[in-house]
Amino acid sequence: MRDYKKYTQANRDAWNEAMPYHQKSNVDKWDLAFSEKNFSVIKEPELSLIDSMDIQGQSIAHVCCNNGVELMSLKNMGAGECVGFDISDEAIQEAQGRADKMGIDCTFVQTDVYEISEKYHGSFDIVYISIGCLGWMPAIQRFFGKVAALLNENGELFIHESHPFSEMLPSDDLEDMDPMKIIEPYFKQDPYVDNDGIDYVGKTTYKSKTMYWFVWTLSDILMGIIENGMKVRHFSEYPDDISTLHGKNQETGPDIPLSYILIAEKE
Ligand SMILES: C[S@@+](CC[C@H](N)C(=O)[O-])C[C@H]1O[C@@H](n2cnc3c(N)ncnc32)[C@H](O)[C@@H]1O
Repeated sequence: MRDYKKYTQANRDAWNEAMPYHQKSNVDKWDLAFSEKNFSVIKEPELSLIDSMDIQGQSIAHVCCNNGVELMSLKNMGAGECVGFDISDEAIQEAQGRADKMGIDCTFVQTDVYEISEKYHGSFDIVYISIGCLGWMPAIQRFFGKVAALLNENGELFIHESHPFSEMLPSDDLEDMDPMKIIEPYFKQDPYVDNDGIDYVGKTTYKSKTMYWFVWTLSDILMGIIENGMKVRHFSEYPDDISTLHGKNQETGPDIPLSYILIAEKE
């Protein structure tokens, strides 16, 4: 088994380094947005599916919550107890600071997902995961084991993520390349090791701390969910780029799967 801590600690450092770049571009924007009563960033196609889950009063855990804007939106939409978990100290500080300032009742906890305290086990009606979480995970089975542990009986897992298919294609910054050319394997055992920074918000380029990104196939994801005692009840694919890396694939077509939504229920 991988020494997963080596990877998650490196990614923690890289995210702590990245957050001030993000904040430079979006702190004021989010402060202003959340000063509006009941502001929400949740949009279609996610919105209809979230609505269909009837989140009123439901307890929600957001795993990899970053600066908390999605969880605060879910709270504004009527959710009950809301707890966000993220490994980045800087992200959690921003999230809790804004929630407190705006009087939005969310709790944000700095922790590696794999080490979320057992006191949270069986506590949530919904575990919510959005774009850019699964790829940071060095062990996907173990990750979904933790997700299942957080859910209460009949609790539901909601994922809106980038599609593993897109991992094979060049990202937008590879300017001279045909965006439809397959340049990477679908089945990739080792992580990508990267020092190119993660400021997809302000697009600052910088030489960053080393970080690790793991490619999980659809079968890795589905079997990770199924083998941890959850039943998939919804799966839909979309030609929409939610990663900010594959805008060209979305714009120039042909339509290919760039994102998906999955809902599973703990049995
Ligand atoms: C791309 S961001 C998620 C962004 C979020 N969906 C949003 O749009 O704001 C990925 C987040 O995963 C967190 N992360 C990475 N590895 C983690 C781990 N092992 N445990 C908890 N959080 C982790 C990072 O700190 C980062 O905040």
